Amino acid sequence: MTVTDYKTAIVTGASSGIGDAVCRMLAGKCMTVHALARRTDRLEALAAETGAIPHAVDVTDAEALANVVGGIEADVLVNNAGTTFNGKLDTMPPERIDQILDLNVRAMMQLTRLVLPGMRARNRGHVFLTGSCAGLWPMAGSAPYAASKAAVSQFLNILRLDTLGTKIRWTEIVPGRVETEIFGLAMGDAEAARKAFLEGKEALQPTDIAESIGFALSLPDRATLARMEIYPTRQAVGGFAYAD
Ligand SMILES: NC(=O)c1ccc[n+]([C@@H]2O[C@H](COP(=O)([O-])OP(=O)(O)OC[C@H]3O[C@@H](n4cnc5c(N)ncnc54)[C@H](OP(=O)(O)O)[C@@H]3O)[C@@H](O)[C@H]2O)c1
Repeated sequence: MTVTDYKTAIVTGASSGIGDAVCRMLAGKCMTVHALARRTDRLEALAAETGAIPHAVDVTDAEALANVVGGIEADVLVNNAGTTFNGKLDTMPPERIDQILDLNVRAMMQLTRLVLPGMRARNRGHVFLTGSCAGLWPMAGSAPYAASKAAVSQFLNILRLDTLGTKIRWTEIVPGRVETEIFGLAMGDAEAARKAFLEGKEALQPTDIAESIGFALSLPDRATLARMEIYPTRQAVGGFAYAD
């Protein structure tokens, strides 16, 4: 099975950043792409440019999500919608913890649960979950986000075990810093976020992630790229921290 054999994809977070780039990449390979996000204007623009099928839905609404994906025979699922918050746990707005877990963990699991039976029945499929380097490596000031992405990682490891023997492939996408709107949305100030997170620092582009997904899809079905850690060349993880 390669990308040319897969016909239909579901992509979340399709209205911007990585999800938008993934939709464009998959549509460029003649796949039918179901693009999920909340912002209708963005989805309609994407649909007009690529032929993707737009679905305006809040993916944290399990019932609405089930209605949208119920009839879709997905070969590829790119479970990518996510949100973040940078700050110390004891001073962050408490509702941000719930928003991060609802979107990054609960919605991701619910959508996977909805799509999996069809993939099992057809014995074909490739599931991508967007984790983060913060889920693998300690990153100060990101406790709920990092914990949510660690959950993504272990969830995927276990689903690979639970579907062993089928032709369903599981790939964890582990990006370093990517230039998207996520930081501005988290801070509520796009310009301040650009200065804090992107100015003067090398960042990946969403197309770098989309191309990596395209490569994982292009492999023959005996080969699974289990985890793709993709960093800007001028980013590294690790090190020690000491108080003064
Ligand atoms: N950018 C980075 O440096 C980076 C690094 C590591 C991992 N990641 C991960 O990459 C993934 C994509 O993030 P991105 O950087 O591309 O950010 P982004 O540009 O902010 O995209 C986030 C997407 O999620 C959608 N979304 C948010 N809440 C939603 C909801 N309740 N229901 C449906 N859709 C919702 C947004 O669309 P609407 O607002 O229109 O709904 C948007 O399309 C996330 O999981 C993120 O954690 C990003």
